[in-house]
Amino acid sequence: MSELKNDLLLRALKGEQVSRPPVWMMRQAGRYLPDYIKLREKYDFFTRVETPELACEITLQPVDQVGVDAAIIFSDILVIPQAMGMTVLMEEGKGPSLPNVVKTKADIDALITTGVEERLGYVMKALSLTKRELNNRVPLIGFAGAPWTLLCYMVEGKGSKTFDKAKQFCFTQPELAHSLLQKITDMTIAYLKAQVAAGADLVQVFDSWSGMLSPADFKLFAQPYLVQIADAVSEYAPVILFPKGSWYALGDLSKTTASGLGLDWSVTPSLAREMTNNSITLQGNFDPSKLLAPTKQIKKEVTEMIDAFGTQRYIANLGHGILPNIPVDHARAFVDAVKEYEGASVKA
Ligand code: CP3
Repeated sequence: MSELKNDLLLRALKGEQVSRPPVWMMRQAGRYLPDYIKLREKYDFFTRVETPELACEITLQPVDQVGVDAAIIFSDILVIPQAMGMTVLMEEGKGPSLPNVVKTKADIDALITTGVEERLGYVMKALSLTKRELNNRVPLIGFAGAPWTLLCYMVEGKGSKTFDKAKQFCFTQPELAHSLLQKITDMTIAYLKAQVAAGADLVQVFDSWSGMLSPADFKLFAQPYLVQIADAVSEYAPVILFPKGSWYALGDLSKTTASGLGLDWSVTPSLAREMTNNSITLQGNFDPSKLLAPTKQIKKEVTEMIDAFGTQRYIANLGHGILPNIPVDHARAFVDAVKEYEGASVKA
C-alpha cells in the first residue's frame, strides 16, 4: 500500500498531513464519458459489470482522462441482491428493476447469504486486474450499497420518489425488516472484506436513500447496520460512509470506526465540521448540477468549498454521482481546481 505513487486519499483518511486535498467523483466511471458511451453501445450493462476486462477498462477511463486521485471499481450496488438470489434487470434509460420483490418471511428465508467471494468472483477479478493495471498510480476504491438502500430496491422492486413500500414494510413488519437488514449486512461485510483481499485499498458504503428516513427511523433502520459494517471492515481497510441526506446523523457517525463521512450539498462545511467535532475526514459536497455552470464559476466555487472545509482531513468530491449530461471538460475543471489549490494554500 505504501508504494502508491499518489496516496493523498489514504493520507487524508488517516488524518495525515497532505499538500492538497485528494479529489475523485462519485459515479466517475461511466455515464458522461464518450469512451464509456461507445462501450455501452456494444455490451449490455451486466456484461460490462461481469466482464473483468471491460470493468477494468471503464474504471481506468476517468483516471486517464480526467486525472482523479482515485479509481472506483466499475460495478453496481445491486450485485448483492443478485448474489442473494434475486433477479435484477437494468433497462437502458429506465434504471434497475427487480421483478420478484421481497414480501414475506419465506422470501427472506430463501435469500442466499454465503459464498459471496465465488458468486461475485467477477468483481474480485476486476479488482485484481485493475489494481495491476493501475500500477500503483492511485488507490483503488471498492464499494457496496448500504443495507437500508438495498432493502429499498429489494422490497420496492425499482427506484421510487418516496420508497413508501419499503417504508411500509419496515413500519408494519419491523422484525422481518430487521432480519432482512441483518442478512444484507452479513453478506455485505463478507463482500467488502473480499474486495479488500482482491486489491481494494479502501471501501465506500453508499446509503443513497438514507435521507428518506426521519432521524429517529435512520437510527433504527440504517445506522446500526452502517456501524456493524464499519466495525467489521475498518480493521482491514479505511471505510467511508455516505449516508446521503442524513446530515442529522453526522455526530453519531463521527464516533464510529469509519475513517470518512460523505456529505451531500444540503449541509454547509462549517455545520458538518461542527457536528463531527473536527474528528473525522469529510468528503464532498459539490452539487453535481453545478458542473453545468461555466468552468470559471466551477473553479471559483471549488476554491470556496476547499476554503470552507480546509485542506486537511478533507476529500474533494461531489455531493452525489456525476450526471450523464456533464461535459468532460467541466468534470476536468472540477478536478483541476482542486489540484491548483496547492498553490493557493501555500499563499494562505
Ligand atoms: O462510481 C462509479 O463510477 C462506479 C460505478 C457505479 C455504478 N453504480 C455504475 C452504474 C457505482 C458506484 C454505482 C452505485 C449505485 N448504483 C448506487 C449508489 C450511488 C448513487 O448514485 O446513489 C445506486 C443507487 C445504484 C443503482 C443504480 N444503478 C441505478 C439507480 C441506476 C440507473 C440510473 C443511473 O444511471 O444511475 C444504475 C445503473 C448504473 N450503474 C449505471 C452505471 C454507470 C448507468 C447505466 C448505464 O450506463 O448503462
